[in-house]
Amino acid sequence: MEMDTINYGVVGTGYFGAGLARLLNKLEGARVVAVYDPAHAEPVARELNCTAEPSIEALCSRPDVHAVVVASPNGYHKEPVLIAAEHGKHVFCEKPIALSYEDCNEMIRQTKEKGLIFMAGHVMNFMNGVRTAKRLINEGRIGELLFCHAQRNGWEEAQEEVSWKKQRTISGGHLYHHIHELDFIQFLMGPAERVSMSGGNVAHQGEQYGDEDDMLLITLEFPNNRFATLQYGSAFRWADHFVKIQGTKGAILIDLQDVKVVLKTPEGEERFLLHRSQEEDDDRTRIYKGLEMDGAIMYGKPSATPPLWLHGIMSEEMAYFHSIMQGAEAEEEFRPLLDGTAARAAIATADALTLSLRQNRKVSVCEITSRQAAYV
Ligand SMILES: NC(=O)c1ccc[n+]([C@@H]2O[C@H](COP(=O)([O-])OP(=O)(O)OC[C@H]3O[C@@H](n4cnc5c(N)ncnc54)[C@H](O)[C@@H]3O)[C@@H](O)[C@H]2O)c1
Repeated sequence: MEMDTINYGVVGTGYFGAGLARLLNKLEGARVVAVYDPAHAEPVARELNCTAEPSIEALCSRPDVHAVVVASPNGYHKEPVLIAAEHGKHVFCEKPIALSYEDCNEMIRQTKEKGLIFMAGHVMNFMNGVRTAKRLINEGRIGELLFCHAQRNGWEEAQEEVSWKKQRTISGGHLYHHIHELDFIQFLMGPAERVSMSGGNVAHQGEQYGDEDDMLLITLEFPNNRFATLQYGSAFRWADHFVKIQGTKGAILIDLQDVKVVLKTPEGEERFLLHRSQEEDDDRTRIYKGLEMDGAIMYGKPSATPPLWLHGIMSEEMAYFHSIMQGAEAEEEFRPLLDGTAARAAIATADALTLSLRQNRKVSVCEITSRQAAYV
């Protein structure tokens, strides 16, 4: 692509969309020229000195927009992605890209047909420590992978206003909204084969809460006798946020709460940063210890700024998307991130887990993926 400046349009300028737009605007050769948001477009447009468009169609049909960033609530990603594709615009779409495998298929089909980039906002990929863990695994430092264990849980107090993030039909609930760990584990172990999920809404009923399940207990089975377990929810007074990766020769802990990455082998322990600097790691640890809300589940307003660590990975992510828009070649490992297929694999497993909980049985992920033959 021979272009000097890449112009972006941003759909959904709440907490995250406004943050992404600010970051994009700071990049060389990047400019946000239009935003759309039914409630928060005007102040963001004024701040960024761009146009607040009256509709998604108006934004996507602008000839000067090269790429569209979608950061509306989870359940409303599909429409702008399809409209952007219709107009031949590349897409960056926040996670989860959709709340069903079928919707992912449709979005992938449309973007692929037009030869467009369809990058998923799986921002964990841009954490230094996650890249370090992948490198250590590739170097054989922990041997063959046997088991992964992720927990992302805590306690949620009653809220004055129930955010869309707590409403299952719009957010998908904890599993879809926090798809990061499931996506990461599948990146490491490949797609899960059979899955099961137990849980429910055990401690958050009533008007001050949404209708999402607050306790989700997940088991994933992979080919060749490999397993993973994940826990998500807001019914855990003892909060945890980590991914442990267990191999035949060693193990890796990615601790996203008492922030650090640790490689453990019979020779001893080695420590690495999770984020870009000790300052970013310490800042994140302080936020958790101070019981401030994790930035990722903040009840956002466009004026709220993300914490240091989140700002760091968001800027890495936008810089990466922008470099791809400027014509950079994608690394092999990031190709499935750039065409929606990694995101779809995570949603397929999430759909299988949802079915498992509903029908109280183990579910093969191919029950989801073969229900509608994949178009692509
Ligand atoms: N990658 C991460 O770590 C991370 C962190 C936070 C949020 N997110 C994602 O970013 C997206 C936005 O989350 P947020 O925290 O900014 O929420 P938010 O509620 O602060 O912002 C959402 C915005 O979308 C607008 N909106 C509502 N309906 C819309 C529609 N149909 N079309 C366009 N805009 C619409 C709202 O007015 C609001 O301004 C979500 O998909 C969320 O999962 C990702």
